[in-house]
Amino acid sequence: MSDLDYKNNFDHFSSIYAQNAFEVWSDLQKSCPIARSEKFRNMWVPTKYSDIEEIARDTDLFSSRSPVVAEFGAMADFGLQVPPISSDPPYHTSFRRLLLPFFSPSRIEALKPTVESLANELIDGFIDTGFFDGALDYAQHIPIKIIAKMLGIPDEDGDQFRIWVHNFLELAPTDITVAATNLLHFFEYFQSQIELRKSHPKDDLVTFLINAQIDNRALSDQEIFGGCLLLLVAGIDTTWSAIGASIWHLSLNLNDQKRLRSDPDLMPLAIEEFLRAFAPVTMAREVTRDSDFKGCPMKKGDPVLLPFPAANRDLDAFEDADIVILDRERNRHLAFGVGIHRCLGSNLARMELTTAIRTLLERLPEFKLKDPNTVVWSLGQVRGPRVLPIEF
Ligand code: HEM
Repeated sequence: MSDLDYKNNFDHFSSIYAQNAFEVWSDLQKSCPIARSEKFRNMWVPTKYSDIEEIARDTDLFSSRSPVVAEFGAMADFGLQVPPISSDPPYHTSFRRLLLPFFSPSRIEALKPTVESLANELIDGFIDTGFFDGALDYAQHIPIKIIAKMLGIPDEDGDQFRIWVHNFLELAPTDITVAATNLLHFFEYFQSQIELRKSHPKDDLVTFLINAQIDNRALSDQEIFGGCLLLLVAGIDTTWSAIGASIWHLSLNLNDQKRLRSDPDLMPLAIEEFLRAFAPVTMAREVTRDSDFKGCPMKKGDPVLLPFPAANRDLDAFEDADIVILDRERNRHLAFGVGIHRCLGSNLARMELTTAIRTLLERLPEFKLKDPNTVVWSLGQVRGPRVLPIEF
């Protein structure tokens, strides 16, 4: 595959990793279950399900202060907070509780018609051509529209968000100049939205955060900004990637496509299996004190990557972990994480993913990948196809 040394210099920003992640994880699980990387400040990289779960649950030894690993330093040292994901208890508990009503089943149900009509509109745009790009013409638009709706910001700003989120996740961690400029754009944008909502409140997350109380005090502008930024980053590329990877699988495995068309009741199990097999999100932690973890001499401040997608392909945790089994019954996958930071948007993501795939199968005849060599996978901590040419 490559002569990159993943045991001693793991690099999740290398395009070789992006194209061959399953193989890299499988090799490491067999030969070096906790790898390292000098490039990312001596980052540790566990790949076994049991280690990843243990680290995610141990909030005392592993802090969430820097959930994205940058080459040049810890996120928190640059004053960047995106609560609740970047915080530890007890603050985490209060902030998470604050956001819970925003993800209630009734709010998610209310967003479903928007996803349905958008999916149909997008399909109308390419159904007569016999071709579409599953990532660019379809998957990416759905979460952008939903997040814009939740934040109460104009749809036409969606493209701008996509670029900023791409910069944040794929360029900023290895380029401090992009990191600083990009953050400034986010900040200026949300500052003006916050000011606007203070004078003209709406039924949206920005207004909700402005009026919210945490531990008997109002949120600071910095906290409101951080909360909005998190939703943008957590809600867009993640869901886009999950929808895209599911389409990628179905376009390559025509039998699975046929089966899902003929047995739509299989959809809930199939969606969980897509989430397991193609989990998009890798998070990170920071070691809080010098300690020995499974024979690894961890130092205070060392970053630890948490590749939940690798855990989901661990043969010790799942039978035939490397095979997609649409009706897999036992599926305790970690796509949404585990422990106190488990994804708040999981039910929203499931609704978007299910609606996107169901609508595609209902509207299109059999579709298949045009040329597997032209598929491009994203770099960094969120993994999904970014170019996905499909014909039907
Ligand atoms: C398929 C799509 C998604 C995947 C795979 C995913 C995955 C994850 C994972 C793995 C975590 C755990 C983080 C950790 O342990 O550090 C997480 C947390 C979180 N996610 Fe998602 N996510 C998805 C979609 C969304 C959406 C659509 C939203 C909201 C619009 C969202 C909001 C959040 C929030 C707020 C947290 C932080 C929870 C906390 O720290 O307590 N996610 N997500």
